[in-house]
Amino acid sequence: MSDLRIRTAQSDELDAGRFAELTELCEAAFGEPFAPVWARVGPGLHVIGEIDGSIVSHAMIVDRPLYFEHETDVAIDAGYVENVATWPDLTRRGAATAVMSEVGRILDEEYELGALATTTNAFYARLGWETWAGPTWIRTADGDRVRSAGHDGQIMVLRTLRTPASLDLHGPVAVDWRPDRPW
Ligand SMILES: CC(C)(COP(=O)(O)OP(=O)(O)OC[C@H]1O[C@@H](n2cnc3c(N)ncnc32)[C@H](O)[C@@H]1OP(=O)(O)O)[C@@H](O)C(=O)NCCC(=O)NCCS
Repeated sequence: MSDLRIRTAQSDELDAGRFAELTELCEAAFGEPFAPVWARVGPGLHVIGEIDGSIVSHAMIVDRPLYFEHETDVAIDAGYVENVATWPDLTRRGAATAVMSEVGRILDEEYELGALATTTNAFYARLGWETWAGPTWIRTADGDRVRSAGHDGQIMVLRTLRTPASLDLHGPVAVDWRPDRPW
């Protein structure tokens, strides 16, 4: 896809037509309505791969703290990657790889760590992402923690220039609760 152009836009910079096009792409890729997904995920930075002005592939980065220490609630400033999608009839041509390369560059510049949840680990592993080996948890609004064992093995992280050397992929990791799919 040599004619693929990568652009970035904050959610509030997308006009209605562009947002509708993005929604159509994500709904086609994931096979589910996206209104609840946008509401759950909130605003972020969209990384868009396009050809001749049409969106072909997408990912977005949302600010989300991750917590690693149960006792002290130490948080890390993570860029959480959501809604990685390529039009179904345009897959396996490198579009999502190009989008995720730009995502990796942005994470490296702006965050202490990249993170995402997936069942398609192999796609991200090629790009340097590592699967979290330790137990996953959800941090509730009142500070309690609830295990999210169903997500164990589905969380991946990308180290950046600012990632602490002490990061332990075998330790616990927690994220703040949000409706439907906390991770
Ligand atoms: C997963 C997805 C984003 C990949 O997009 P894409 O544009 O086809 O990705 P690329 O062409 O850059 O893939 C390059 C390589 O990644 C790997 N790869 C691609 N899709 C993969 C998948 N579903 N599972 C495992 N590896 C995959 C392959 O090695 C591929 O190289 P190959 O085509 O030479 O075998 C796309 O299939 C999609 O939108 N799927 C539905 C939504 C989804 O599952 N998103 C990710 C959820 S976290």
